Formats: sequence, structure tokens, C-alpha cells
Amino acid sequence: MMGADMDVNTLILGAGAAGMMCAAHAGPSTLVIDHAKAPGEKIRISGGGRCNFTNLHTDPARFLGQNPHFHKSALSRYTQWDFLDLVDRHKIAWHEKTLGQLFCDDKATQIIEMLRAELLQTGAELWLKTTLTDLAHDGDQYEATLERDGTRHVLRARNLVLATGGKSIPKMGATGLAYDIARKFGHTVTETRPALVPLTFSDKRFADISGVSTPVAACANGTTFEEAMLFTHRGLSGPAVLQVSSYWHEGDSISVNLLPNHDLQSSLRSARTIQGKRNVTTALAEVLPERLVSHLATQLPLQGNVGDLSDKRIDEITDGLRQWTLTPTGSEGYRTAEVTLGGISTDRIDSKTMMSRKVPGLFMIGEAVDVTGWLGGYNFQWAWSSGVAAGRAI
Ligand code: FDA
Repeated sequence: MMGADMDVNTLILGAGAAGMMCAAHAGPSTLVIDHAKAPGEKIRISGGGRCNFTNLHTDPARFLGQNPHFHKSALSRYTQWDFLDLVDRHKIAWHEKTLGQLFCDDKATQIIEMLRAELLQTGAELWLKTTLTDLAHDGDQYEATLERDGTRHVLRARNLVLATGGKSIPKMGATGLAYDIARKFGHTVTETRPALVPLTFSDKRFADISGVSTPVAACANGTTFEEAMLFTHRGLSGPAVLQVSSYWHEGDSISVNLLPNHDLQSSLRSARTIQGKRNVTTALAEVLPERLVSHLATQLPLQGNVGDLSDKRIDEITDGLRQWTLTPTGSEGYRTAEVTLGGISTDRIDSKTMMSRKVPGLFMIGEAVDVTGWLGGYNFQWAWSSGVAAGRAI
């Protein structure tokens, strides 16, 4: 069936975090479309259902991308405090969990409702279960053919915003649409790979301690994160490992310090005289999970009594635990990755407006762009800041 032709000022592809935020600032005559049944599905499942919506310590250094300066402008013009203000205006209760990470007290869906209310208030319209089947640009206007409920609509728009996100979690509707359109209009896309993702070992070497978690300092290619690490059936996860996954490439090793807060060397040395008859593994189980110690005992010289340890053995044990070098075989991939590293190259995007420097009226925002934040609310803050930058420019 053929619907009536329509003219709008702005067509936004993708009703996720960035697209909805952009619509809330782009003003009336804005249409946001999404192929999903509901807007903001990733917001809904984020932060264990409570959405870690920003981070108090948002700082450009906590983002990765080929141009380390690109994201500075948008992040400084719509900050974590601005978003917090919006959350407060909507009377959504929140709390800081750890490391500046802010979560809803109640439900992530409150953030979706807030964005939906904001965008409808500006007069923008939201079409769900809608797909783009054709797109052209005549140098002045975009002509998009849309399918909605079996009806075909031809829509002309002065501005087109690409906000369809990255490739992570294809089961939730992630597609490479933004990349394809960006390429079609002469933009390049940097290499993309899964990030904030568990790392795996083909030999499933940690299956016996799956579920064990311990604080570590994990390091990949010179960047270290001090957070918890979780052993899984397939390998390693937990915040420390998700964070380093963004800095890890296939074939690289990671280094794990299992004793980030313990001076085990001194305590073993003094235990030699006070508790010499203690088993080394029993002494270690005071600072590390018992199941982990049993697992490590198969690889490190942890047999015998504390009293029998020479200084050299103590150094060997502590060095082994501080510099545990592991070479993951891979990652769990886009199936579970929280974000996609890489994306539409920023080299032809204006950092203040997020508009293409090549094609007038073409905007690119959110995860689709080559800007990726650390774990902890940084990626949503990028979605809000880049969405507002484009919305204000429109
Ligand atoms: P987003 O993915 O949100 O939106 C894109 C939209 O485009 C979707 O609605 C999709 O349906 C639509 N779309 C895609 N292809 C389309 C097509 N071909 N046609 C039409 N529509 C299309 N970040 C954070 O800061 N704090 C957190 O707590 C979490 N937690 C978290 C948990 C999990 C499980 C995941 C997977 C991710 C997170 N993240 C996160 C990351 C965060 O969700 C992500 O960075 C943002 O949602 C990115 O916002 P965008 O709007 O760019 O894309």
C-alpha cells in the first residue's frame, strides 16, 4: 500500500539513546524511525535493568577513537551534569554505585520514558516497526522510502541523522545501516571490533573456577584497570576484563595482578616465624578466593609449609601472582559485546555539530561513530552529548 508523501525537516534513523536525545533537541518537524517494536531497547537492558546512564568522572581521556580530540567539544557542551539535571527534572531517583557510575534507583525504562516525553514535547514524531528501503539525496533534500505496517511512505527531509548504533548484540536488532549509508555518501568507516566484551580461551581453562570473582589490576597494551575480574566457563569477564578488552587485539597477552591491594611478600615473610606450619595454600586463601588458590596450585609452586619458604620462593610466588600473563584466544564477539569499537571515521565530521563536512544536512551520532567510552556510563554520555550537538545544530 502507498501512503501519502511527506516533508519533514529532519529524519532520524534509530530511536536509541542518541537518536531520541537528538530528536528532543531538533525541534518540530522531526521524524524518528526504528525497525524495533520499542524505542531504546539497549537502554532497557543496560546496567542490569537500572541503566548506568552517565559517569560523574566523564573525561575525554576515557574514550577511544582514532582522533582522541574529536569527542571533546560535544562532551564539554552537554555534560554529565546536564544529563543529571534532566533526570532530576523528571524526578527519576538515582544513586552512585561505584567509580562515579550513576544508576536509576528503580528501572531503566524511566530513562526511555523521559526521552520519549522530551521528544514528543518538542513536536517530534516516533515511528516504530519502520524500515528504510531506499534513500537518495538530490544535493538539497534526502528522499527516503519507508515501510511501515505494510504501507510505503516517501519522505523528503532537509536533514538526515544516522543514529542506528553499532554492531553489538545483533539479536537485539543491531545492524550496520549507519556504516552503509555513511559509505554511500563518501565517508569512511574505521575497523570495527567488539569491545567491553568477555575474553575467551579455547581450552576452557577456567571452567573449574567459573563464577569466582576477585579484585585485580588487569592490563592490556599499557592500559590498566583496577576492578573485579570474573572467571567464566569460557574465559574471563567482570569489569576489569571488559575494560581491557577495548585495548586488546587478537594474539595479545594481558597481564593480571591478583594482589592489587595486598603486600603478600611481607605477610608471607612474617608468617614464616609466627605460623610456619601453615600450608602455603591456606595462607594464600586469606587474600584470594579458595577455589582460585586451588586452581593456581596446579600451576605455581604453592606446595609445602610457609615456614619452609625461602625469600626466593616467596618472590617467585608473589611475582607469579602479580604478573600473571594470559593470552586469550578470542572474545565472545558481538553476541555479548556492550559496544562496537571503531565506526564512522570522525575525519569528515564537524565535532561541534556532528554534521558531515562532505554532505550538507547529514549528521552522524552515538555508537555508530568512531568514539567508544569505557565501561561505566561513558557510552550513554557520548550518545547524549553527540545527540544534543546534532539536535542543537539542526
Ligand atoms: P542504540 O543501539 O542505543 O540505538 C540504535 C537504534 O537503531 C536501535 O533502537 C535499533 O533498533 C535501531 N536500528 C538499528 N538498525 C536499524 C535499521 N536498519 N533500521 C531501523 N532502525 C535500526 N552504556 C552505558 O553507558 N551504560 C550502561 O549501563 C550500558 N549497558 C549496556 C548493556 C548492554 C547489554 C549493552 C549491549 C550495551 C550497554 N551500554 C551501556 C552501551 C549503550 O547501550 C550504547 O553505547 C548506546 O545504546 C548507544 O546508543 P545509540 O543510540 O548510538 O545506539
